[in-house]
Amino acid sequence: MADLSLDLCGVKLKNPIIAASGTFGFGREYGRFYDLSELGGICCKGLTLCRREGNPPPRIAETPMGILNSVGLQNPGVESFIENDLPWLLTKNVAVIANITGTSVEQYVQMAERLAGTGVHLLEMNISCPNVHEGGVAFGVKPESVYAITKAVKAAAKQPLIVKLTPNVSDITENALAAEEAGANAISMINTLTGIAVDTNKRKMVLANNTGGLSGPAVRPVALRMVWQSAKKVHIPIIGMGGIETGEDAAAFMLCGAKAVMVGTANFTDPFACPRIIRELDAYCDRQNVRSAQELVGTLEENG
Ligand code: SIN
Repeated sequence: MADLSLDLCGVKLKNPIIAASGTFGFGREYGRFYDLSELGGICCKGLTLCRREGNPPPRIAETPMGILNSVGLQNPGVESFIENDLPWLLTKNVAVIANITGTSVEQYVQMAERLAGTGVHLLEMNISCPNVHEGGVAFGVKPESVYAITKAVKAAAKQPLIVKLTPNVSDITENALAAEEAGANAISMINTLTGIAVDTNKRKMVLANNTGGLSGPAVRPVALRMVWQSAKKVHIPIIGMGGIETGEDAAAFMLCGAKAVMVGTANFTDPFACPRIIRELDAYCDRQNVRSAQELVGTLEENG
């Protein structure tokens, strides 16, 4: 068996497989299927200061090799999370990542301050949600605003800060660099690619919000390319995600430069996806004669 463990911004993870925000709730449902302590980490559903109902339905559309979602950050609010979900999660012996979002820089700062004294291990700042009309991706498109919000939240955060980047830009590496220069401890990429679904019989948009974010294996080649490009520019850890379904998919992200990975949409079709991917990554390392999975990071051989 390979050593899958790693140090992510000072937090010890048993393995590099983290359940991605928005696909795992706060862990309770999956905790009925397997022991959550098997995971490297759990990234909770995006939290806001107050409870949100999210967007009206329909807000999910299946696509070939993926789904479009326009959930709109439905969540119970940070206070409910701290009171009802976090104490339970902290008994599970797994790194807990709180994904935070807001409609102003001040709200993001308040979220970081509110979570500072809690047992949350890492913060993931979501400046890449394409499904809300205020905030979300608005902070994540231009390098100047990525820099400004990262600087402000980093000053308030007590936990290491991961900045989650959007792929809906011309050059994601500019935003990766802006986050690093502003003091981010890590970046995660990619959030979803904006798309639409068309009901041709009704001649109507499928999603009530018109647009949604595409995830699943269809986006994997794009995500791999963006991780590979960003890893050449930044020195902070990259957490890769986008359509990971197998241990070899996870390994591909690590070869491109990701220190850890997040598994999202695969949880919907296979509730056992994360523990299976951990086993498959282990088997891959054995086949490759790799003793520590971290030896894979950034070792992709390029052509020409
Ligand atoms: C959503 O709740 O709309 C998805 C979150 C995200 O894409 O960041």
